[in-house]
Amino acid sequence: MNIAVSCQRVRELAVSVEPLTPTTKINDVADLFLSERYRELLCLPVVENGKVAGTISRYAIMKIFLQSYGREIFGARPVANFMNAKPLLVDINTDIEEASRYVHAHISNPITEDFVIIEDNHFFGMGMVLSLLELLEKRAETRNRALQTANRHLKSSQARLIQSEKMASLGQMVAGVAHEINTPLGYVQSNIELAADLSQSVALLADNNQSLLSALLDKTADDGHIESAIQASIDSVDEVVKGGLLSDMNTLFADSLHGLSQIGELVTNLKNFSRLDHVKLSQVNLNECLDSALNIGRNIIKQKAEIIRDYDQDASIECVASQINQVFLNILTNAAQAIEHYGSIKVKTRARETFVDVHIRDNGRGMPETVRKKIFDPFFTTKAVGEGTGLGLSISYQIVQQHKGLIDVRSIENKGTEFVIRLPRKQLNPSALQEPT
Ligand SMILES: Nc1ncnc2c1ncn2[C@@H]1O[C@H](COP(=O)(O)OP(=O)(O)O)[C@@H](O)[C@H]1O
Ligand SMILES: [Mg+2]
Repeated sequence: MNIAVSCQRVRELAVSVEPLTPTTKINDVADLFLSERYRELLCLPVVENGKVAGTISRYAIMKIFLQSYGREIFGARPVANFMNAKPLLVDINTDIEEASRYVHAHISNPITEDFVIIEDNHFFGMGMVLSLLELLEKRAETRNRALQTANRHLKSSQARLIQSEKMASLGQMVAGVAHEINTPLGYVQSNIELAADLSQSVALLADNNQSLLSALLDKTADDGHIESAIQASIDSVDEVVKGGLLSDMNTLFADSLHGLSQIGELVTNLKNFSRLDHVKLSQVNLNECLDSALNIGRNIIKQKAEIIRDYDQDASIECVASQINQVFLNILTNAAQAIEHYGSIKVKTRARETFVDVHIRDNGRGMPETVRKKIFDPFFTTKAVGEGTGLGLSISYQIVQQHKGLIDVRSIENKGTEFVIRLPRKQLNPSALQEPT
């Protein structure tokens, strides 16, 4: 976007004026000032042989005429006696802004004179100070508008980038969660299939018992028929009870219920996270936020690290949960990515009266001071293209700052990194909480 305003020259301001000569009489000058043509000019040029000899201002004439008998005494005198012999001269090709600086530096207060425009040191026309100011104002307005447009463009492209970072992390999260849901879903499905198989034996037991009961109640039934009905029933009972089929089924159901509750938990976590664009203040327990983030990021984290939790009891604060979840997920993901093979991530909360500290510590590769200084800068990343956007920590920083919290990082190369996020218990100015920009 080009925000430069095209260069304008003094030429555009020139007012064509019939110059006076040094011998023009004061009376004639006064008449000229009264004429419609020069109504707006503060002074008129006095020119001799094409060169500017001076200017005579409306103010100077007024001063003469305000004296008693001024007109009578001085009216017939030549203008040369009263003119300003050192008027402001500006070359026709001067840039408007430069001209303005020059005029501004030399102008008297109150403004009693305009400036003379010259070309090749010869008189060309008059320039009005007022027009110069108007032009500058217009130019400032144009520049302002251009800046505003540029700013809008910048903001919208920034918003698009943040949106794409969100979409990327959302995509990553959804893929992870889908994977996590698939495992319990798989075994719940095969358990149910097995249970369906086993239930056929239970159905057979019921059938056999029914036949036995009918045989026993049938007065015409012979002993052989009754005996075989009894045997079939005994066989069924053996299979179902002694063969452990019932306890197998119980195990299958318990496993399936566990799987379903895992799926339920993941769906709840996903629901918490999916409201990424929702700015809503609520009372939340940071331990639960951490668990939620750990669950959501489980797919990435579990291959890289053992999680060690050390939670303080009362870690409840007022915050926008979806945003704080995002901060934790960003930092936990970074921690996992900093570990080369397999390591540990320690997640600790410490509650104080007015704030809660959250520590997230990994024993990954750490970072040198030169990197540590830049990690909160937007787009700063040491990761390969496609792997890192460099926005995670800058967004996290903004979120924590909007919550009037602090975020601190300590890191030792090849040893690990610890992030400490301090969040106040209460939000005194909830309207300051917005989507990160
Ligand atoms: N736990 C960590 N250990 C080592 N380096 C880290 C850690 N967390 C962040 N960093 C550094 O900070 C940079 C910026 O992080 P971030 O803003 O999340 O962007 P991204 O993860 O997309 O690179 C990372 O590229 C990495 O160099
Ligand atoms: Mg990151």
